[in-house]
Amino acid sequence: MANATFRIWRGDQGAGQFRDYTIEISEGMVVLDAMLQIQASQAFDLAMRWNCKAGKCGSCSAEINGSPKLMCMTRLNTLPLERPVTVEPMKAFPHLRDLVTDVSWNYQVKKRIKKFKPRPPDAPDGTWRMAQKDVDRVQEFRKCIECYLCQDVCHVLRDHHMHDQFIGPRFLVYAAALEMHPLDVEDRISDLKEQHGIGLCNITKCCTKVCPENITITDNAIIPLKERVVDRFFDPLLKLFRIFSPNGR
Ligand code: SF4
Ligand code: SF4
Ligand code: FES
Repeated sequence: MANATFRIWRGDQGAGQFRDYTIEISEGMVVLDAMLQIQASQAFDLAMRWNCKAGKCGSCSAEINGSPKLMCMTRLNTLPLERPVTVEPMKAFPHLRDLVTDVSWNYQVKKRIKKFKPRPPDAPDGTWRMAQKDVDRVQEFRKCIECYLCQDVCHVLRDHHMHDQFIGPRFLVYAAALEMHPLDVEDRISDLKEQHGIGLCNITKCCTKVCPENITITDNAIIPLKERVVDRFFDPLLKLFRIFSPNGR
């Protein structure tokens, strides 16, 4: 048994301060365990979100020692405990109380992305045929738990507050899952350029580094989408083809 100190952001609507809490810790504890222990013993009104304690619900996102992480998946033995561990709310969204932010902007963004639109069935019995490699390609995008840690770390949202112009890495992953789906026939390329702000991403890869599901956000989702946008809007031959093609695509 040893003691550890947690420096937790306490306050409402962005106004507040850090407060230190020292507790006894034991082997195997994660940051969420420490927060629950503090809430049960010293800070009964500490506001935080959690649900599964298994890295699957995406609700316990916070900034631990300045890095966006899931509290339930961050073991204390991976942190330097000789100094206080800071635990703060995410910065890219409006602050509500203590460790809780209002992430509802993300739900609104999701509604703006064109939904899945399958081609007509391939067989008379109403079924489709897909190549396994095409199915595999989008599979990793489906691991997203919507923790929004990637949104939190992205400088376009976090530092430049361009929420009205940029959907953020989470929703570029979502759009990629739909665009690359072997059955989908919807066209989201012009939306990605005009409405979703894909050009604002400068491929710093910060989002990929914080994803707890290890989704290769930049290389596998954003860069291929950017290539599609470039092919559509900036390829001179395609441009000519579009001008003279009857459906304009
Ligand atoms: S790679 Fe793009 S989406 Fe990801 S953090 Fe950097 S700017 Fe944001
Ligand atoms: S892409 Fe990764 S970091 Fe972003 S919301 Fe999904 S799981 Fe979280
Ligand atoms: S409590 Fe569900 S992801 Fe942490």
